[in-house]
Amino acid sequence: IPTQVLTDPADVNAAVAREIAELIRVRQAEGKTCVLGLATGSTPTGVYAELVRMHKEEGLSFKNVVSFNLDEYFPMQPNELQSYHRFMNEHLFSHIDIDPKNVHVPDGTLSIEEVPHYCQAYEKAIRDAGGIDIQLLGIGRTGHIGFNEPGSGKGSRTRLIWLDRKTRIDAASDFFGMENVPTKAITMGVGTILDARRIIMMAFGEGKARISAEAIEGEVTPVVAASFLQDHPNAQVMLDSAAAAHLT
Ligand code: F6R
Repeated sequence: IPTQVLTDPADVNAAVAREIAELIRVRQAEGKTCVLGLATGSTPTGVYAELVRMHKEEGLSFKNVVSFNLDEYFPMQPNELQSYHRFMNEHLFSHIDIDPKNVHVPDGTLSIEEVPHYCQAYEKAIRDAGGIDIQLLGIGRTGHIGFNEPGSGKGSRTRLIWLDRKTRIDAASDFFGMENVPTKAITMGVGTILDARRIIMMAFGEGKARISAEAIEGEVTPVVAASFLQDHPNAQVMLDSAAAAHLT
């Protein structure tokens, strides 16, 4: 996977935000929509802050943007502190001019019986929107992209998954204790992600160094879902120096 390492995370954020803004503007000029696949967590917050800045200071409009988020905990109410709906509103949507009807975040409020049909409809909504133009990704310590934990196959689609113990440990502080972390989530599949025309995975900090090296240079395997990005023709990894420490 083409990998760029920049010393300062701020430079990574600026480069990624610039690429996204560029595509939004090109599509705007053509009178077309731009479909973004979005991630939550600590990794993309700097990109969102930069996009908000571009909206406020440089007139970047999101009127033609359609967005699909990767995942949401299950069950989860959208107003809860740890909800990815809430996260996206706080970090991006409430600060820009995106049309709320163009925003899609998996629904954590469904009954479990409703989930399979909902996941199929989520896939269909992505297809009907024309597919994802740019998919933004972080990586978990288990190698997950979205919440595609170890065992997730290359062809996996949007579905309900069990969160890995490691992932729940990493989320424990957000939930004030691991016992409060949901055991499940709805996530786009690896196959859903790989359908995106462009993929940018970001990782910051020494805590991501080992798994980033495995994903970029290791075997392509369901044990490390992010390794499937090696099979994508237009994926890019952006790391700060700390996260690049284990690359050979
Ligand atoms: C979030 C997501 C996850 C995170 C990953 C890294 O929507 O899909 O794959 O990107 O868990 O999380 P952070 O960025 O908090 O280290």
